[in-house]
Amino acid sequence: MARSRAPMAAFLALLAVAAGVAAAELTRVEHPAKNDGSLSLLVVGDWGRKGNYNQSRVAEQMGKIGEKLDIDFVVSTGDNFYENGLTGVHDQQFEESFTNIYTAKSLQKPWYLVLGNHDYRGDALAQLSPVLQKLDERFFCMRSFIVNAEIVDIFFIDTTPFQLKYWTHPKDSHYDWREVAPRETYIADLLKDMDKEMKKSTAKWKIAIGHHTMRSVSDHGDTKELLQLLLPVLKVNGIDFYINGHDHCLEHISSKDSPIQYFTSGGGSKAWRGVYQPNDDNLQFFYDGQGFMSLQLNQDQADFIFYDVSGNILYQWSSSKISHLQPSIYVTEK
Ligand SMILES: *[C@@H]1O[C@H](CO)[C@@H](O)[C@H](O)[C@H]1NC(C)=O
Repeated sequence: MARSRAPMAAFLALLAVAAGVAAAELTRVEHPAKNDGSLSLLVVGDWGRKGNYNQSRVAEQMGKIGEKLDIDFVVSTGDNFYENGLTGVHDQQFEESFTNIYTAKSLQKPWYLVLGNHDYRGDALAQLSPVLQKLDERFFCMRSFIVNAEIVDIFFIDTTPFQLKYWTHPKDSHYDWREVAPRETYIADLLKDMDKEMKKSTAKWKIAIGHHTMRSVSDHGDTKELLQLLLPVLKVNGIDFYINGHDHCLEHISSKDSPIQYFTSGGGSKAWRGVYQPNDDNLQFFYDGQGFMSLQLNQDQADFIFYDVSGNILYQWSSSKISHLQPSIYVTEK
């Protein structure tokens, strides 16, 4: 099937290009939409636990829903391997928590991944290494990059360095800041590059992905640094949705001060934290347990669905949009 082969070919060609790109340039991946212009994807976060804590059950349901929706790719919102990322490119956890878990046919598509804070506690460079694609060609992880899928530009943003406490109060954890430190320069360059790329975007939909929450009612709550530093860049560039993990739950929050919608998909394995702390924004949906999210996009509409470990639909929400210059507007709620 030409359709499923094309993205993987594009993806491998890109790896060759990425290797020679200077640090300042953000890598752009071209991923074709379906023939009718639509796109389907799944989003999962906070998952790599060798199948434990219902990781395998979530994976199985992702396989089923992935098949039903004929997904084009999978997005991971980070914390790919617990507790401390990978120890190196030959860490068996890569197979134990990824390759041997997400085995369904429908999940044999590119996976676009960001790093979470737990990934930074191991050998962060290992997850970015092309060696992993030799072991499993689906795995495409970079710190920050852009996937252009015709009707949507997806901006993947490395959010771990933003959080100051990892630098100042690492406690017993070691964070792998190689190629990142010093923090201020890294963040300033990243925001400048993202702003430039977002301004160039003419795709109908614009989505930002990061590991950390901006708005959350669960354990970690809001991330102050992202609200201060990253949110203004998303707002000024008309980003429709910010999608994250970090809190091990599923949630949808509408902003009071902008059209941006916040989605947390961090239910890939361990969940049930039992924490609920309301914030000032408008909470649309919160589920404290395991699960994942699907997103279907076409020129007119974006459909979000959250599923639990048994594949039951927990919540659906849709947004419509008239032109790429206008903010999306909410159309349905369940
Ligand atoms: C796995 O999911 C089932 C069904 O929701 C739940 O009863 C169980 O507590 C979950 N296990 C863990 C470790 O969260």
